[in-house]
Amino acid sequence: MAAPVSKYARAVGGSTVVGMRRKADEVEARGINVIDFGIGEPDFEAPPPVREACVRAIQDGHGKYVDPRGLPALREVIAQFENAQHGHPASTDQVVVTAGSYGALSVVTRALLDHDAEVLVIEPGWGPYKALVELTGARAVGVPMGTQENRFVVDAERLCHAVTSHTRAIVFNSPWNPTGRVLSETELGAIAEVAERHDLWVIADEVYSELVYGDAVHLSIASLAPEVAARTVVATSFSKSFAMTGWRLGYCVAPIHLAPLLARVNQYTLRCPTSFVQHAGVIAIEEGEAHVAAMRAEYAQRRDIIAAGLNDIEGVTCPLPEGTFYAFPAIDREWGDSHDIANKLLEQHGVLLTPGSAYGPASRHHLRLSFATSVEAIEEGIERFRAAAANF
Ligand SMILES: Cc1ncc(COP(=O)(O)O)c(C=O)c1O
Repeated sequence: MAAPVSKYARAVGGSTVVGMRRKADEVEARGINVIDFGIGEPDFEAPPPVREACVRAIQDGHGKYVDPRGLPALREVIAQFENAQHGHPASTDQVVVTAGSYGALSVVTRALLDHDAEVLVIEPGWGPYKALVELTGARAVGVPMGTQENRFVVDAERLCHAVTSHTRAIVFNSPWNPTGRVLSETELGAIAEVAERHDLWVIADEVYSELVYGDAVHLSIASLAPEVAARTVVATSFSKSFAMTGWRLGYCVAPIHLAPLLARVNQYTLRCPTSFVQHAGVIAIEEGEAHVAAMRAEYAQRRDIIAAGLNDIEGVTCPLPEGTFYAFPAIDREWGDSHDIANKLLEQHGVLLTPGSAYGPASRHHLRLSFATSVEAIEEGIERFRAAAANF
């Protein structure tokens, strides 16, 4: 008989996005071509100066351990970037460099939570929040948000209602995967007020911070007021904004008294993120802006095409995404659960997307489509969806 394993590790479920991709591999193996709206990953490569800087760092011999807080030069430019881009008044000492925002969220949850703690997860919510919380032994409590004019909006009353004497934190992301929303200052203020009233930590995932379109502006919740910053940990990364998913580079920005604890947990997780990637991260921030702007313009064009295409399908209503690279349309309730629709679209029509039910019960009748793919693929996928929908 095998020795026992952690009950927390055993209890966490797998990812729907990964599960759907595996099914898509089987569909492709049957000779059906699949249009992929599934994974949330830029279809661009990292900007050329970043790739060059990484090669240079390897050739220059930057292959040793660095400080578990991160490379000083990188922490410095991150602090300046947070100040300049997001109005977050951060100092270098508040920054801890991690292995992507998965790394940041893993460090933050382990640093903040005990096994009897509860964390409120704003839903529709990115699935891994629950898993990351539950791996610490704490309990994740999904709090479904309401809708206004077909858009999900923050509902502070529902958050307050879910608070118990065990609640320790609220976790959310803006720009908001999967909804494509960018939270307004009022909504961020409402979250901050609940945290203030009940003395909670705010875990703010800002991984899509540079991917906002039209009039939308990304605002860090930490920029609202010093007392909000004092209870907020931002967890973010270079993955989406700089098209660097595989590089595994991210960071936390935390109140100054918390940052050393995060650095210590980071140290016992991986000692430090890859040294030469951190050197390249400096160049991403110093020289990446024009490249990010070009990717943003491309995503903005695709977002217009996908939203118009979806709205043209009978039974589908798609608000224009304000940020991220996800469209999150509502589907006719009579079609049934999004899980079944997503499976039908994949198995019978070769369209891979993610059912809204993967993000909590509030979005059982939604679908998530990543538009980090070509315009041709978007157009073909929409045509297939339209043909399928005629028979739902
Ligand atoms: C909301 C959100 N947070 C965090 C991540 C993790 O990103 P990474 O660890 O690559 O920075 C993702 C990736 O899909 C995401 O969508």
